Parts: sequence; C-alpha cells; structure tokens
Amino acid sequence: MSVHPISHPLVKHKLGLMRAADISTKSFRELACEVAKLLTYEATQNLELEPATIEGWNGTPIEIEQIKGKKVTIVPILRAGLGMLDGVTDLIPSARISVVGLYRDEETLEPVPYFEKFVSALDERLAIVIDPMLATGGSMVATLDMLKARGCQQIKVIVLVAAPEGIERVQTAYPDIEIYTAAIDERLDENGYIVPGLGDAGDKIFGTR
Ligand code: PRP
Ligand code: URA
Repeated sequence: MSVHPISHPLVKHKLGLMRAADISTKSFRELACEVAKLLTYEATQNLELEPATIEGWNGTPIEIEQIKGKKVTIVPILRAGLGMLDGVTDLIPSARISVVGLYRDEETLEPVPYFEKFVSALDERLAIVIDPMLATGGSMVATLDMLKARGCQQIKVIVLVAAPEGIERVQTAYPDIEIYTAAIDERLDENGYIVPGLGDAGDKIFGTR
C-alpha cells in the first residue's frame, strides 16, 4: 500500500488541535513539529540496518546495528515544509537538507518554482519530502519530478493533511512512492483548499495570515 494514514492517538489528538480557527502561531508551529516527528517515526520503520563492530564501554568490541548506506536527505517544500523540519531532524539529526521553493498560483493552482538546492549523491539517498498540505498534488508532483530527474530512486512523502485529489495525482504519477499522512480529509473546496483541512498552513506557521 502506498498511502499510510497514521491513526496513532497522539497524532489524531495533536492534528485535531491544529484545526481550531483561533490557534496561535506558536501552538500551530509546535504542533506541526510534533506531528511531523511522530509521522517520521512511522515512515522510517523499514529503514535497512547493517551490522557494525564498535568498541564498547569496557573496551570489548561489540556488535551494533546501524542504518545502512548513505544517509537521508530531507526535502522541505518552501515555505510551509520548513515548519515540519525540526520535528524530522530531531529523529534523523545527521540528515542532509535539500530545499525546494514552490508557491501555488492562486488562480491556476499550479506550482510556480522559485528556488532549489539539492544535496549531492541523490541517487544513493532516501529522500523524505515534507509539506504540511497535499491539496491538488501539483507542488508535490513537481518536487518529485525534480528528485527523479536527479536520479533519486528512494523517496517517501510526509504530509500532515492530504486530500483525495492530491493522493490520486501523486499515485498516478508515481505509484511506487509511499505517502505518510496524519489525515486524509474529505475534499478540496472551490479555491483548492482542503476541507476540513487546516487553512493556509504557510501563513499559520509564519504568522502572515
Ligand atoms: C501550500 C502547501 C503546499 C501547497 C499544496 O503552499 O504548503 O506546498 O500549497 O497545494 P497543492 O497540493 O495544490 O500544490 P503555498 O503554495 O501556499 O506556499 P507557502 O508554503 O509559501 O505558503
Ligand atoms: N495550501 C494550504 O496551505 N492549505 C490548503 O488547504 C491547500 C493548499
């Protein structure tokens, strides 16, 4: 299965708090990080391990297990993806960060690219793309296109809320990519906003609403 709605009680509780109309910037930002951290735990359950030998506390060599291969790159989609970044790096502190800047044109709802900076050796890394909202899916598919064009083979997506329309668009373009989400909401409204959704996640994280 390529869509994983995470039904852990902490995820449900925290996401519910984020839906409140009168939530403060501080609370929204804190909760976005906390939910991102919980989703990262779920999304990394199948990371491959390999044995390694290290010197233990008393000088005796011991066998431990380490995550195999080149480490992860986290890919926040600007701006709102930055609001999840600390939550992800709390669990994967050695991850390299690639950044994609896209905004959604308000009329066409199509993504407009304005920045990109990728780390090296994308073909050897697991990329974890983070964005709070998967709405039409345009921004996510544009980001996945960029990663694939640079040879990235292993990609996971973490979003806080997904609309069925966005899931379908990603799955149609990239059926092999796993999507982890705290909720699959009902639909998009006439302006392309997810309902019930969270509102404009970027504005809420940056306090620009
Ligand atoms: C939001 C959100 C996603 C995108 C989702 O960003 O963070 O990137 O919209 O919509 P889509 O699935 O229809 O593409 P926005 O364009 O508002 O930019 P921002 O992060 O700078 O606020
Ligand atoms: N972007 C947002 O921030 N929220 C939505 O509901 C859709 C796109």
